[in-house]
Amino acid sequence: MIHESAQATDALRGIFITFEGGEGAGKTTHIRFLSETLRAHGREVLCLREPGGTEVGEQLRAVVLDPANGGMSDEAELLIYEAARAQLMAQVIAPALARGAVVLCDRFTDSTVAYQAYGRGLPRMFVDRVNEFACQGVHPDRTILMATGGEANVGLVRATHRGAADRLEQAGEEFHARVNEAFLEIARRDPERVRVVVSDGNKSQTAAAVFAELADLFPWMAQVVDDDPAFFDRLDVKRSKVEA
Ligand code: TMP
Repeated sequence: MIHESAQATDALRGIFITFEGGEGAGKTTHIRFLSETLRAHGREVLCLREPGGTEVGEQLRAVVLDPANGGMSDEAELLIYEAARAQLMAQVIAPALARGAVVLCDRFTDSTVAYQAYGRGLPRMFVDRVNEFACQGVHPDRTILMATGGEANVGLVRATHRGAADRLEQAGEEFHARVNEAFLEIARRDPERVRVVVSDGNKSQTAAAVFAELADLFPWMAQVVDDDPAFFDRLDVKRSKVEA
């Protein structure tokens, strides 16, 4: 169902939303669902992922995630993520926001803080500075942190079962526990921007929670959550069809 009211109020400025979380937290499904709904409301939507989203960035992604590059230093790893980000910002994100699009990005600067600062142990202040350098003053309007409420490594198991583990997925349980704790710490320190959504339940419940956390940016989303909860049911239907 298309909820037409209030479309005009949020059609004017670009909005930048990032999705964060440990491995296998379920970001992809919710980014896709949100993008479909925003498009149905007449918005231009870009769905991006980091590292990636540009030709340069996708090549850098292959390098940084390749398990064959086991000898890569932590410093080199950080700079590869930042190089991919700088390219994505200059080539795609900044121009899209300038023309009024909604940009949805699977991972962004909080991942670098969680993985390279807390996970690898690189200095937080330096990571913050290179993040700023890569982003040219652009910051997410909202960040959805998708958290698995159960055991810390549930998402990691889910992610690694999808295929061969990449270099970061192979980093070990302690590393990933630090990363998950770091994301929660980032959310505690910046509650206005970063909203935690627990993604253990039904996809429909998680999607409704995501919409609720975006309702100040897109007022019609509050109406969907309050007046039309069945709007989200299709997510669970799709899932059971696949499983059947
Ligand atoms: P994903 O897109 O499948 O989540 O893979 C990206 C991997 O890269 C994931 O393990 C998280 C990691 N990563 C970092 O370590 N630092 C970063 O800045 C970003 C964007 C991702």
